[in-house]
Amino acid sequence: MIAAHQVWTTLPTADEITVHLSEQNASSLLLIAADGYESWLTEPNKADIRKLSGLDPLASQWLNQLNASPGAVRIATSGNYSDSELRLLYAMISRSLGWLNNRYTYFFDVMDRRLDYTKEAIPVSKTKAETGYHTDSTAKLYYPDIVGLLCLQPAKSGGESLIANAANLINAILDNHPEYNEILHQPWCRDVITPGTIHNTEAILANDIPLFQYDSEGGVIFRYMRYWIESALIKLGKEVPSSLTVALDSIDDYFAAPEHAMSFRLERGDMLYVNNRFLCHNRTAFEDGEHPRTYVRAWINREVQD
Ligand SMILES: [Fe+2]
Repeated sequence: MIAAHQVWTTLPTADEITVHLSEQNASSLLLIAADGYESWLTEPNKADIRKLSGLDPLASQWLNQLNASPGAVRIATSGNYSDSELRLLYAMISRSLGWLNNRYTYFFDVMDRRLDYTKEAIPVSKTKAETGYHTDSTAKLYYPDIVGLLCLQPAKSGGESLIANAANLINAILDNHPEYNEILHQPWCRDVITPGTIHNTEAILANDIPLFQYDSEGGVIFRYMRYWIESALIKLGKEVPSSLTVALDSIDDYFAAPEHAMSFRLERGDMLYVNNRFLCHNRTAFEDGEHPRTYVRAWINREVQD
């Protein structure tokens, strides 16, 4: 079996990945935030991490849960906090898990911006569409180790979170379809959509990444974004090879089986952290109510960022 430490032996339930941040812990974090450093949201990496030492035992527990199976943790808050208090708690908790990445700003509001990712090269996170299963970041040389999401406002309907496991996937494929092995491990160009990057053929050609790579512990690093693989080929004037389509269909069929994916809804104040190396995520299409669905995304790395 590949990547045994990442494999789900049974499908985790939302309750099994949920931990509760006590009101006492939340209050002490807000007291720390009120005491001097005002830039948790704008310069989180410059914050004095020692001030979070009270969180150390919890952060190690969360990281243990994130670094290997199940690979996800939902931190639920039970107090009645304002948006700015929740953003602060989220920034501090995110910082306790690693270094924040600034490509889309450290804390990026995920909302429907009434855009259409099929008409222009923009991230699906700016729309209300189902995203499809994916791992975050289309850039060859950068991916977050952990993706964080804070729910400030759930959707009126839809917008559920779905999580599936690429370590389980590769084991299932190698058992059932060893003929896909080469396709899954050879580089495929991805469309270039990261802000500040040049959108041209050369940039797309240079942005080639295999679907599956492995870290030094034999863990899976999955870089999956079907839409941007296919749109890159089209922009390069190439046909999508039928062998690739068949393999990608098989991956999507695997994820679509309810027994292979966690599905749950985040409530206001919930913080979801997902390992972006071996888990991939999806969200269902949604409709806003009076207040727009608002999540705050953070990209977190083990390595120093900035
Ligand atoms: Fe995502």
